[in-house]
Order: sequence, then C-alpha cells, then structure tokens
Amino acid sequence: MIIAVDGPAASGKGTIARALAKHYRLPHLDTGLLYRAVAANVQRLELDPGIEADCVAACDFDESLLDDPILRTDEIGKLASVVSAHPLVRSALLHRQRRFAHQPGGAVLDGRDIGTVIAPDADAKLFIRATPTIRAKRRHAELRAHGSTVSLDRVLLDIRARDLRDSTRGTAPMTPADDAALLDTSFLSIDAAIQRAIALVEARTAAK
Ligand code: DC
Repeated sequence: MIIAVDGPAASGKGTIARALAKHYRLPHLDTGLLYRAVAANVQRLELDPGIEADCVAACDFDESLLDDPILRTDEIGKLASVVSAHPLVRSALLHRQRRFAHQPGGAVLDGRDIGTVIAPDADAKLFIRATPTIRAKRRHAELRAHGSTVSLDRVLLDIRARDLRDSTRGTAPMTPADDAALLDTSFLSIDAAIQRAIALVEARTAAK
C-alpha cells in the first residue's frame, strides 16, 4: 500500500505521515528532508541557490547529511523552498522517491507533490491543510521552545511566502491531487487529526 501525504509547512503532514507509517507498519520518507539536504549543501559549498546548475551540483549529497539537525532549521526550510523550484533539482531527486514509494510492501511519503508526481498511483492520498495563522502559531511556539525570539508576524510572513513559492512554481507545484482526500487540522488535536487520517485511508482503500 502506498500512502501519499501532501500539504504546506506546519500543516501537520509530517506528524500524520509518521503516525500512518506506524499504524500500517510501513516505511516512511519525509521528502522535504531531501530538498533540505540540497539546500544545506548549497549553503555549505557557498553556491548560488538562484542558479539551477549550482543546485544540481548540490544534489549529490552524503547520506549522513540527512541526520544533521541543521536540516530542521527554518533558514534551511526557506532555502529548500528556493532550490526545489528548479526543475532539474526535482528530476535529480525523483527516482529515489519513486523507488522508495514502490518498494515491496509499500510506503508512506510526505511532501508537496507525492500524490501528483511521485506516486500518482498511490492507494490513498491525503492533502493536509490548516489556516496560515494557525500554522504560524504552531511554528512560532516550536521556535520559541527552542530559544528563538522571532515574532509571530515574521513567522506568518515566512509561511505565506513559502506557500506562494511552493504553489506557484512551474514544475510540480504544491496542489491537491484530483483524487486526494482533504483534511483540515486547524481545529483538531494531534490525536484527532491522526484518527481522522486513518479513517480517510481506510475509506479510500476499502473503496478499491
Ligand atoms: O516539508 P518541508 O518544510 O521540510 O519542505 C521544505 C521545502 O522543500 C518546501 O518548502 C518545498 C520543498 N519540497 C518540495 O518542493 N517537494 C516536496 N515533496 C517536499 C518539499
């Protein structure tokens, strides 16, 4: 069984994808980490994130980079959104994601284009949403807990800018697949969102 979980930053898609993987005992891939690794490599090698060839050179990263805590920072998240807009960066990472999705037994992948591009044949597709203000509040609380003094307004501006960039790029823009089930987590607890996600996957796979 392949489960595709897409959605914007801080929508809850990562938490939901991990919970689904645990529930169905499937391997999970956070595809955002791959773009974050490219971004971190661009930064480390002092390349230009606006130049496609520079970003393609940075796609050849060491596996160990995927465990580096620097990948989780907001700065790298923002840069990942920039480098991921280059079509050749997306194609450099495509086969790895498709291979993961189509391994025997299946998999859960979360990202922006899993249901539309990486695994259009997925058995269940979820598109996770929440209002920008609520996502900004979640992200802000997380950053504060890690000692950041960034303002809520700044976080909201960043979230809006990232949504716009990710959803308007020419290649594989973030958009729900036609057959995706929409799940709005704005007013749901984490537990309620997970239960709802499982129910949606059950409904999708039972209908097949
Ligand atoms: O999910 P995330 O915040 O870790 O993703 C970081 C950036 O990577 C996101 O702003 C856009 C890009 N991304 C993408 O283009 N396609 C994906 N499948 C996953 C992430």
